[in-house]
Amino acid sequence: MSNSAPYSIQRVNPIELCKKYDSPLYVYDADKIAYQYEKLTSAFDVKTLKIKYACKALTNLSILKYIHKLGADIDTVSIQEIQLAMKSGIAPKNIFYTPNGVSFDEMQQAIELGVFVNVDNISTLEKLGEKYGSSIPVCLRINPHILAGGNLKISTGHINAKFGISIHQMNEVLDIVNKYGIDVQALQQHTGSDLLDADVFLKVAEILFDTAKKFKNLKALDFGGGFKVPYKEGDITTNLDDLGPKISNRFNAFCEEYGKELELWFEPGKFLVSESGYLLASVNVVKPTPTTTFIQLDTGLNHLIRPMFYDAYHHITNISNPNAEKKIYSVVGYICETDTFAWERPVEEIREGDILAFHNAGAYAIMMASNYNSRPRPAEVLIYEGKDYLIRERETLEDLMKGQTIVDF
Ligand SMILES: Cc1ncc(COP(=O)(O)O)c(C=O)c1O
Repeated sequence: MSNSAPYSIQRVNPIELCKKYDSPLYVYDADKIAYQYEKLTSAFDVKTLKIKYACKALTNLSILKYIHKLGADIDTVSIQEIQLAMKSGIAPKNIFYTPNGVSFDEMQQAIELGVFVNVDNISTLEKLGEKYGSSIPVCLRINPHILAGGNLKISTGHINAKFGISIHQMNEVLDIVNKYGIDVQALQQHTGSDLLDADVFLKVAEILFDTAKKFKNLKALDFGGGFKVPYKEGDITTNLDDLGPKISNRFNAFCEEYGKELELWFEPGKFLVSESGYLLASVNVVKPTPTTTFIQLDTGLNHLIRPMFYDAYHHITNISNPNAEKKIYSVVGYICETDTFAWERPVEEIREGDILAFHNAGAYAIMMASNYNSRPRPAEVLIYEGKDYLIRERETLEDLMKGQTIVDF
């Protein structure tokens, strides 16, 4: 099912998985996650590299535990993500909290838990200064004003983006830092997802280095995530063989200039889990019309919204008929709303009852799933060392009704 390397998932039969756990079904391959982790960590040559998995991509407890076991810390954006990471056995000192526009109360909860926090606005920085002075370390999220990334919806470091503190506001930041003696130990930026070019990383790096010179007590610089993964044959991806040495050399040179060995941090989400995941779905109806042949599945935008949300491409294969000739289909969901996964796409001949696999369904897939049309969310299965583990049960009608009460009219 996977396109390269002998991952664990190739040792299981996905059709049998659907028989065992029913469809639709999310399946993740632990080996692929480990492969990606190794690929990323071996690309850089610096004294201390830390990978902080941006767990918003996929927060299943077993996935969190597994990625931490590989050596990664966890990057979180909500108090609930922090709590999930802790539930999976990860200590607060290995959790980084980089929220956007959350309440001060939530910031405080994270701090009380002992988590290292990233501050992305001046108002919160001032409140933290007033409340904690120099007693807690903080990171500052910088908005470098670089337009980069796949499309505007996943681009976060440009001038109109809501994220981070503008590099043009550093004087104001320094005033507050000096006023309260705030202990700034790290600077962070995340320019966006699907960054291709080493030059973009380098450009952003220079901005971070320039800003870093204004802070004397830094321990780390965090360049965010955004490494691009392939979605289809021939897709260009972030070239780590090029990026790794370039960033490492420049980073090491900057550390000399700064007079201290800083840690280099990254926060990949997609890079670690995207390709590890598949959404398996059954074909309910083959529906030829005068214009196209619709393939209607037992899933929809309720389970995988990325194509409708930001035109994401998900490769689709017919695992029930893998050697058949390809025909042209429009693959859609069962939601009562337009939910097109693929329009006029060649897929191996499809029959009712076949199981289709959506590739790249590990990141931002089940995490963005909903109960729209009052459909339960799918189960999740992890393939680890060739064995399948049910890591989240399929939701039931009971789950849909949970917490509701019926008014006695
Ligand atoms: C602050 C931050 N860091 C890291 C990431 C991970 O991005 P990616 O999955 O593209 O690596 C995101 C994604 O939105 C993010 O907002």
